[in-house]
Amino acid sequence: MGGASAARKVDAVGFAHTSEAEFARILDFYRIRWEYEPRSFPLRWDGDRPLEMFTPDFYLPELDLYVELTTLRQALVTRKNRKLRRFKELYPEINIVLLYRRDYHELLAKYGYSSGDTTALPHMQQLYEEAEGILFSSDEVRERVRTLATQVAHDYRGCLPLLVGVLRGATFFLADLMRAMGIPVEIDFLSLSRFPGDGGAVQPVRFIKDLERPITGRHVLLVEGIVDTGFTLRYVLGVLRQREPASLEVCAFLDKRARRLVDVPLKYVGFEIGDEFVVGYGLDYRERYRNLPFIATLRPEVYRGDAQHEGKT
Ligand code: IMP
Ligand code: MG
Repeated sequence: MGGASAARKVDAVGFAHTSEAEFARILDFYRIRWEYEPRSFPLRWDGDRPLEMFTPDFYLPELDLYVELTTLRQALVTRKNRKLRRFKELYPEINIVLLYRRDYHELLAKYGYSSGDTTALPHMQQLYEEAEGILFSSDEVRERVRTLATQVAHDYRGCLPLLVGVLRGATFFLADLMRAMGIPVEIDFLSLSRFPGDGGAVQPVRFIKDLERPITGRHVLLVEGIVDTGFTLRYVLGVLRQREPASLEVCAFLDKRARRLVDVPLKYVGFEIGDEFVVGYGLDYRERYRNLPFIATLRPEVYRGDAQHEGKT
């Protein structure tokens, strides 16, 4: 992630207003490239000499969009609106938006993630406070899942695989994966007991929801959202293997290999990630953020010392 260099860029630019610095940080957070006041447009001339200029605050090259921020009083907003109308008359081919403070997150949701995906909107403020940044955008996720699906479909063609989702983190991944596979598949789910919270006596992990049907002689592909220490997977694989499937492989969306404590065979991996706590695309932090369309990294101070990170759910 370009966090450090991005932060330096924000610090290096002499912003006229703190709201601009804030907006730049939000753009950095969402990995949207920006330029600060890169260009001035003449609005009125006296002969050849420009009398009035307009310099939009930001230009976002990936979106080919100028952004003018405003947190000003109503009287000034009216004047700014007049300027903007004039600008649009003179430069109709240039994309520009006037952005109010309250619109920031909405804009980012609309333009920052692609496909007009605004499912994350209600989370935005909290995510901005708790997350360090986006690790994989919804586009990157979609692209990777599509590639994996092609590979899996190729390997399992003609043998009606049974995809087994480990609830609840695998749900988004499993749905997208099988949708993109394009061959006949069946699905089933299993769910494990949760690690007890503070004060609870530790019971060993168990299935709290087993598969609905036998898997003996079936080609089983276990689908997991994220593999961390490997303890969960090791347990699940052990139980399923006793049922003598024809084959048993694992497809994990994220592989946190740096934290692996027991060796588990992963045949398919979406992305390998470092030692960081991530949320979104089915993965939660205290049950929140599962429905984000991307993967975000939480700030270490948010989860550090948290029981869920040490013994997870
Ligand atoms: P393991 O048994 O240590 O491999 O842990 C796997 C389980 O821990 C996953 O199924 C998740 O529920 C949870 N987990 C581990 N790391 C993360 C993370 O970064 N974000 C969200 N959940 C995680
Ligand atoms: Mg969890």
